[in-house]
Order: sequence, then structure tokens, then C-alpha cells
Amino acid sequence: MERTLLIIKPDAVAGRHIGDILKMVVDAGFNIKALRMTRLTRDQAARFYAVHEGKPFYEPLQDYMTSGKIVPVALERENAVAKLREVLGATDPAKAAPGTIRALYGSSIERNAAHGSDSVENGLQETAFFFGESEF
Ligand code: CMP
Repeated sequence: MERTLLIIKPDAVAGRHIGDILKMVVDAGFNIKALRMTRLTRDQAARFYAVHEGKPFYEPLQDYMTSGKIVPVALERENAVAKLREVLGATDPAKAAPGTIRALYGSSIERNAAHGSDSVENGLQETAFFFGESEF
């Protein structure tokens, strides 16, 4: 079993799509192992996205990710990282395949409805960022 982190972002939470997105991942065979609704502090957003430090979108991304509530979700299934990225679609909703989460609920590369871990290692690190082992 592989672990990956889904974050339902502020635009999708405000757009009332939490239920729609959770249904899509459960229908895709994922088990929800841990879940909460929270609002990131600036410091948490900076740490979570530290890999993007120095990129032009780093500061706006922090502004956006702290602008409202988010729902981090720890997911497990075989090949979880690649499979979640498939269900999410391309980072830019305009390029995401029809029927994917970002195509359905995202409106721009920044307001792209949801985040998914990009590697097996990051799946473990990012789920540990939000959840303690005892919550699994
Ligand atoms: P996410 O999967 O959360 O990981 C990093 C985020 O940065 C990404 O989704 C996008 O929302 C955002 N992002 C990536 N590339 C760009 C870009 N070129 N311009 C603006 N935002 C970007």
C-alpha cells in the first residue's frame, strides 16, 4: 500500500466541492486514512511549499493557500501517488483531461482545486506534515 496526500484547496472548499472530490477519490479505489478541515498559517504554507521557494508563484501560492479553509486527506491504495495524479489531472485545469478533478473544479493554475503528492517519498513526508502516525 502506498500513501499520498490530497489537499482540497480553498477554492474547492468555498465552492462546496469537498463531497464531490472525496467521492471521486473513493470511487477511484482510495482508502481515506485520515482527514481534517483546517486553515494554514503563513509559516505552515511556506514550509509545506518550501520546494517552490524562489519561484515567482511562491508568495502568491502562500497568499492563496492561507486565504481560506483547506481539507488535507491522507489516502492509501496501490500505486497511490501516480493514481491520484491521474484522477486530479494536469496542474493547469485548462490542460487537465475532461472528467478529472481539476478540469471539473479548478479555474486557474493557482486555483486548481486540489493538490496531490508528486512522488512516493513526498507522499510519506506530506501525509506526516498533517497527520501523526497514531491517526492512521
Ligand atoms: P500544487 O499541486 O498544489 O503544487 C504547487 C502549486 O503551485 C501547484 O499546485 C499550482 O497551484 C501552483 N503552481 C505551479 N506552477 C505554477 C505556475 N507556473 N504559476 C502559478 N502557480 C503555479
